[in-house]
Amino acid sequence: MSRATRFLDACHGRETDRTPVWLMRQAGRYQASYRAIRAKTPFFELCKTPELAARVTVDAVEQLGVDAAILFSDILIAVESMGAPVELTEKGPVLHHPVRDRAAVDALVVPDPAEAIPFVFEAIGQIRAALDGAVPLIGFAGAPLTLASYLVEGGSSKSYVNVRQMFYGDPAAAHTLMDKLSRTVASQLRAQVEAGCQAIQLFDSWAGIFGPTDYRAFALPYNRWIMEELAGCGVPRIIFATGAGTFIEALAETGAEVIGLDWRTEIPAARARLGPDVVLQGNLDPGCLFLEEEAELEARVRAVLEQAGPQRHIFNLGHGVLPPTSETRARALVEATHRISAELRAGGA
Ligand code: CP3
Repeated sequence: MSRATRFLDACHGRETDRTPVWLMRQAGRYQASYRAIRAKTPFFELCKTPELAARVTVDAVEQLGVDAAILFSDILIAVESMGAPVELTEKGPVLHHPVRDRAAVDALVVPDPAEAIPFVFEAIGQIRAALDGAVPLIGFAGAPLTLASYLVEGGSSKSYVNVRQMFYGDPAAAHTLMDKLSRTVASQLRAQVEAGCQAIQLFDSWAGIFGPTDYRAFALPYNRWIMEELAGCGVPRIIFATGAGTFIEALAETGAEVIGLDWRTEIPAARARLGPDVVLQGNLDPGCLFLEEEAELEARVRAVLEQAGPQRHIFNLGHGVLPPTSETRARALVEATHRISAELRAGGA
């Protein structure tokens, strides 16, 4: 029974027998089973085929022994649903018609989820049936700023020149874009919950584009509005951001139950800044899965668990599993987290 409940219990700040663990990007190219499916199916087709998306989601849970499933989909599905087609190339996602001016922003739609992305809700139903209560299912969306970065840059970026040109050069158009993205995200998250997701995570993967002042001006109000829209859904809300170490307080101000940290912010520092009641998620550097010795990985796991303490913590990586990761190591990570957290609890730590 405890595996079925420990993730949700921890989200709500309740005591658990051991620290729950799941991994961002726990389904993906590092797995042989995923690569076998991808050899026959283009990425977005996989996202849009409920049977395959469900299988990939459940395979990751079974192979890793994690305490939560995460819906197999992508944050860019929402972008496409607004009328901006995305192609996944060798170099990452590409949008052939980037959104860089008022006219392009005005052309985007805020779609009805049931009409635009029915395959997501069908996949959720199939995943819930296949999991049969073994672990809860997490739904997710990209945060508006992170989605805007793909729309405006036309893909991934290092310096976000186009985002900066638009947000500083035409702030009114930028705010209209953020507003449309927020309404799209909130409606899609709500529909995910209605279809069966038992928690949701907002990924602000590129929060660090801005410093604290501009994040508060351009991104925080929208993330907070989305969280408020979902407050009545009754499921825990997680906000995860990278590069946000200097403004994690702004993440807490969204009202989310759980704050996901990247590896650059240490857990004791986050607790000191956010208070003892906050539930933290994270934050082992995904690069630790490349440590030469398994014992070194275990030492890193132990350090995170000791820093976090036994309660109000969900173990995760500080960002997604990297493609060259060994499957055996990922499995060992989950097993070590469970073993060491049980040991620390038994020892009174
Ligand atoms: O197991 C899971 O975590 C669920 C599935 C999931 C994917 N993408 C599958 C995926 C989730 C939660 C995401 C979120 C996502 N997508 C984010 C936020 C999290 C993060 O990592 O920061 C972002 C920024 C994206 C956008 C995206 N999707 C990029 C930049 C890329 C290409 C580069 C890369 O990392 O592969 C994708 C493609 C993608 N999304 C893959 C997977 C498994 C790889 C596709 C493939 O080649 O098969």
